[in-house]
Amino acid sequence: MGPLPAAADLPLVLEPLREDLERVGGRYAEILSDVGAESRDLVEQAARFTGKRLRPALTCLAARAAGGGVNDDVLTVAAVVELIHTATLVHDDILDGAEVRRQVATLNARFGEQAAVLAGDVLFSKAYRAAAWLADPFASRYLSDVVGEVLEGEIFQDLVARSADLDESSYRRIIRGKTAALYEAALHVGAHYAGAPLSMASMLGAYGHHLGMAFQIVDDRLDLTGREAEVGKTLGRDLGEGKTTLPVILWREGLPEARRPEALERIRRAWSDAQEARALCRDLEASGALARADQAAQREVEQARAALAGLSAGPERTQLEQIADYILSRTR
Ligand code: FPP
Ligand code: MG
Repeated sequence: MGPLPAAADLPLVLEPLREDLERVGGRYAEILSDVGAESRDLVEQAARFTGKRLRPALTCLAARAAGGGVNDDVLTVAAVVELIHTATLVHDDILDGAEVRRQVATLNARFGEQAAVLAGDVLFSKAYRAAAWLADPFASRYLSDVVGEVLEGEIFQDLVARSADLDESSYRRIIRGKTAALYEAALHVGAHYAGAPLSMASMLGAYGHHLGMAFQIVDDRLDLTGREAEVGKTLGRDLGEGKTTLPVILWREGLPEARRPEALERIRRAWSDAQEARALCRDLEASGALARADQAAQREVEQARAALAGLSAGPERTQLEQIADYILSRTR
């Protein structure tokens, strides 16, 4: 998985999982060990922005919570989910024209778009090969559906791009696909390969879904109000790309009916005018729309915690709860 982040970079809440993450990192590197010389630089660049390692941490934690522990298959599926995630980021940066991710150059910025598309495919093919070689075909079958859902979500997002009047349920459909589906999968496969019954894997998966929803709501809020140096990627892109996210939806819907047409105009102007975008961000804050988006993330975290009700008390449950709280507090 490339070098693990320095101690200071690993969120404190993941510190107890450091050893598991090192083992997953080893498996990630093994899966990529036979990448051809031509793609090596590209794949290594992608490995540099795998970030907080939340998904592999959650896979390992789900395996521990399920009682079976982090066995060899769990290591593989944790690495597979992280590889799929990395592949989607590589492709996403091309689609978004992003130049920086996690403080490093994106593949498209460094190597050009054509090479970046192919490198994303290389990562994806290695993930699938690793899953296909597991004795239990569950991961191949389940993850192929999950990837389908991610892609459907992205296509839907593209179809509704530049819709100033996007509603909350469409927004939720998008973030379910782009983020929550893979979070759910990270936990579900971890529990499954630790030997958990479907009921337990689904319960942990439901926690993952709500966690993913909260993560993306927070991510979208940071895109509007975060500090670029801290977040480590190009911010304000959502508005510039005509992506309508929750704070904007809540702001627009909170206005009296008579002011909505004017609001739609302001959103549209913000897509192409940076000054308008900054003014809109100030109004999102002043109107309480940002705070209402934070509350929506908070409700997802509460639902994530509630999904753990059937899990017996213990260190794993406590850690899952702490990770849910961490999602709300992050500033990058
Ligand atoms: C990030 O969105 C986007 C995703 C997490 C999903 C992107 C998925 C694809 C492009 C499909 C490619 C699929 C495969 C299997 C290779 P964002 O732009 O809102 O987040 P960001 O701010 O982190 O860029
Ligand atoms: Mg993006």
